[in-house]
Amino acid sequence: MTITDEPGVEIAFVSSHAPQIFLERQDSPEVLAETQAGMRRMGQRIQESNLDALVVVALDHIHNHFFNLVPTMTVFTGSPFIAALNQETVELPARPDLANGLLDHLLTNDFDPAWSQKQVLDHSFMVPLHFAIQGGLHVPVIPIILNTYVPPQPEISRCFKLGREIARWADNAGLRIGTLGTGGMSHYPGTPRYHDPDLTADQEVLGWLKAGEVSKLAEMSAKELDVRGMTELRNWAVAIGARGTAPTAKHITYVPNDHCGYAVIEF
Ligand SMILES: [Fe+2]
Repeated sequence: MTITDEPGVEIAFVSSHAPQIFLERQDSPEVLAETQAGMRRMGQRIQESNLDALVVVALDHIHNHFFNLVPTMTVFTGSPFIAALNQETVELPARPDLANGLLDHLLTNDFDPAWSQKQVLDHSFMVPLHFAIQGGLHVPVIPIILNTYVPPQPEISRCFKLGREIARWADNAGLRIGTLGTGGMSHYPGTPRYHDPDLTADQEVLGWLKAGEVSKLAEMSAKELDVRGMTELRNWAVAIGARGTAPTAKHITYVPNDHCGYAVIEF
């Protein structure tokens, strides 16, 4: 519990996950160094938090979920947790018992997620966790795969409520839980705007998060998120919502770049 007596997880992070951060083929050494250092610090901070598990909310860039079935949200209840990019993998322990507990809690509290036991998760999980592990992270992971990629996607307000429900589950179960939501910031992959991310929109969102105004993020429309290249910030809304109704950004790494603003933020 927080001092306001509302449920809230022990620590929350949001982080970019662009493959370029790992592949190191496009960005400048300075951009890579600062971003990767932010992710290593994240791993250290999460490890220091002595968690029972880290709920990682990210997406599937149509590696596992193609047009035969695109679940809005999926709790991964299998073991182990494996995420891959370009033949490189990261593996962390899973906690199927806790994942199933979270699934049961959500199903009895107005959410109806899918579940899966057999997936190799993609770079949205792999990239931030690869560097977080270098920073010392070694905690069990509960992955949630949120459809922030293939329209139609869930309303971001609903994603924020999912985070609040994760907090209630952790509180009821007496668990020390952290959250990590990955994606962003503004980017337009595969479009003519690739080299023109909306860095002004990045600054606006960062200002909200510094001021404890995640509600402004949670009020953005699907169209606004799309126009600003911020569809993946739905994952952020889950992670931040789990920390509280109005947590403030405590530590911000933000690295503007020519195709995506990279960020790693602690709440
Ligand atoms: Fe992505």
